[in-house]
Amino acid sequence: MSLKDNIMARKGYWLRNGAILFFGLTLFFFVMLPKSQPNIHDNIPAAPLEETGPTTWPDSITSKHCDVAHPGRPLIQYVLMIDAGSSGSRIHAYKFNYCKATPELESEIFEMLEPGLSYFGDDALGAAQSLDPLLKTALKSVPVFLHKSTPVAVKATAGLRIMGDIKSNRILEAVRNRLETVYPFPIIKEEGVAIMDGGDEGVYAWVTVNYLLSRINSVVKNSTVAIMDLGGASTQIVFEPLTVNGHSVAQGKHRVPMSFNGNNYVLYQHSYLGYGLFQANKAINNYVVENPIDNNEDTVLSPDERLHPCMPVNTHKKYLHGDKEVTLIGVSDNANECRRVVEAIFDKEKACNLNPCSFDGVYQPSLTTSFDSDIYAFSFIFDRITPFLAGSDVPIQDITLQELENLTARVCVADEDEFKAFDSIAEAKSELGKVAEMCMDLNYIYGLLHYGYGIPKERKINLTKKIRDYETGWCLGASIAVLEDRWYLGA
Ligand SMILES: *[C@@H]1O[C@H](CO)[C@@H](O)[C@H](O)[C@H]1NC(C)=O
Ligand SMILES: *[C@@H]1O[C@H](CO)[C@@H](O)[C@H](O)[C@H]1NC(C)=O
Ligand SMILES: *[C@@H]1O[C@H](CO)[C@@H](O)[C@H](O)[C@H]1NC(C)=O
Repeated sequence: MSLKDNIMARKGYWLRNGAILFFGLTLFFFVMLPKSQPNIHDNIPAAPLEETGPTTWPDSITSKHCDVAHPGRPLIQYVLMIDAGSSGSRIHAYKFNYCKATPELESEIFEMLEPGLSYFGDDALGAAQSLDPLLKTALKSVPVFLHKSTPVAVKATAGLRIMGDIKSNRILEAVRNRLETVYPFPIIKEEGVAIMDGGDEGVYAWVTVNYLLSRINSVVKNSTVAIMDLGGASTQIVFEPLTVNGHSVAQGKHRVPMSFNGNNYVLYQHSYLGYGLFQANKAINNYVVENPIDNNEDTVLSPDERLHPCMPVNTHKKYLHGDKEVTLIGVSDNANECRRVVEAIFDKEKACNLNPCSFDGVYQPSLTTSFDSDIYAFSFIFDRITPFLAGSDVPIQDITLQELENLTARVCVADEDEFKAFDSIAEAKSELGKVAEMCMDLNYIYGLLHYGYGIPKERKINLTKKIRDYETGWCLGASIAVLEDRWYLGA
C-alpha cells in the first residue's frame, strides 16, 4: 500500500500524525510543482498547520458521511472532467468519498467559460490556454496533497469533430501538452484528451442517471432506467433490455457489457448522428421546400415561397435552401400535417438487417416487449416540453406520450384562446414568442419518441435536467468509469 493510500485509509493514524505529514507533503508537492504553475500558495489549507484539533479540518479533505475509509480505498477521491463542447468549455470537479466500496458523490465544483476550443481554429496554443481558468479553479478546489492522485480528462464533443482531423488533433495535442507540463493532475490513461464517441456519451449518461437514482449503487441488483438524450447534432438512446432465456437481446455494436459494484449489466445503445434537433429542423425545412404541400387555400404563391405545415398561420420565415433563399409561410392549424412531414424524415423504410429496427435501419429491441422500467429524457426534450407544464420548477416531471401529442397540437394551432390557457405559466409565454420553431420542435420530439423509438402513447416519460441537484449529462458517468480503474493511485 502506498504512503498516500495509507494516510487516506487510516483516519485515526491520520488524525494523530496528520498535521506533521500533511505539512511535509504540502511542502514537498509545492517544491515539486513546475515553475509555470499558477501561484498556489493561498491554496494550502491553514487548519492542519495549527494545533486546533480535528474539528477544523477543511471540508475538502473530510467526508460528511464517515471518518474511516473502506479498507484499501482513500477516504476522499477527486476527479476532474472537462467537457469541451462546441459553444464553451466546462469543468466538473467531483468530490467522492469511499465510506463504502463504491464511490459516493459528495459535492461538485462547476465552472464554465466561452468560447469552445474550436473557436481558436489554427491557434492550438490559444485553445489550450483557454482552459487555464478552469484548471486554476481545480488547483484551488482540490487540496494540494491530492493533486497528483486526482485524474483529469478533457473530452470534446461535436464542435471539435466537425473541424476535421488535422486541426482538431493539433488542438488536442496542445491541450495534452499543457496539461502535462503545467499542471500536476495525471491525465486519464485511455482517451484522456480526445473526441468522445456518441455511443460513449450515451452510455456515460446512462451511468450518471442510474447512479443518481440509486439504481446501480446497491449490491442487490435493481431495475435500471432508460435514457434518451437529444442534442443539436445527435440523439442517444441507452437501456438495459430484459433478458430472454438468460441472454440479453442487445447485439453487435449496440451491445455494451459493463459491471459496477459487483453487478453485471448488458446495455443496448445507439447514437444517431444527423437526428439532433438542429439537423432535424433543417431536414424538415428541406423536405417542405422539396415536396410542396397542396395549396388548398388558393393562396397565390411566388416560385420562392412555400407553405410550411409546422409553422403557425401568418408566420413568415426566410430559409436558405442550398444557395437559394426561400420564404416559408406558416399554415399549421393542427399538428397532423406537420406530423406527416416529420415522419417523412425518419427513414422507416430503410432496409433492416437485424429485426426489429427503430428507424434509419438501426436495430433496437422493442421498448414494449423488452423494457418495462422508467424512461428518463433530458437535454432538448426537457428544455422544449417543461416550459409548458405547470410547476416547471419541479426537478423531475412526467408526461405520457398522449399528453405530449395533445400539447403539441395546442401549440401548433397557435390560437389566441389556446394560448390563454398557458397564461398562468410564465415560461410558456416566453417560449411561445419563439413559436415558429416550437411547433416544429415539439412535433419532432414527439415523432422521435413515439414514431422513431416506438414508445407507446400510454407510456410515461420522466423529464429531468438535474437529479439530486447534479446535471444528468455524461460527465459524472465518465468520472465514475475512471474511478473503477485505479491506476492513478499507483495501485
Ligand atoms: C432500487 O431503486 C429504488 C429507486 O431508486 C431505490 O429506492 C431502492 O433503494 C433500490 N433498491 C435496491 C435494492 O437497490
Ligand atoms: C417517473 O415515471 C414513472 C412512470 O414511468 C413514475 O411512476 C414516477 O413517479 C416518475 N418519477 C418521478 C421522480 O417523477
Ligand atoms: C388528448 O386530446 C384528445 C382529443 O382532444 C382527448 O380526447 C384526450 O382526452 C386528450 N388526452 C389527454 C391525455 O390529454
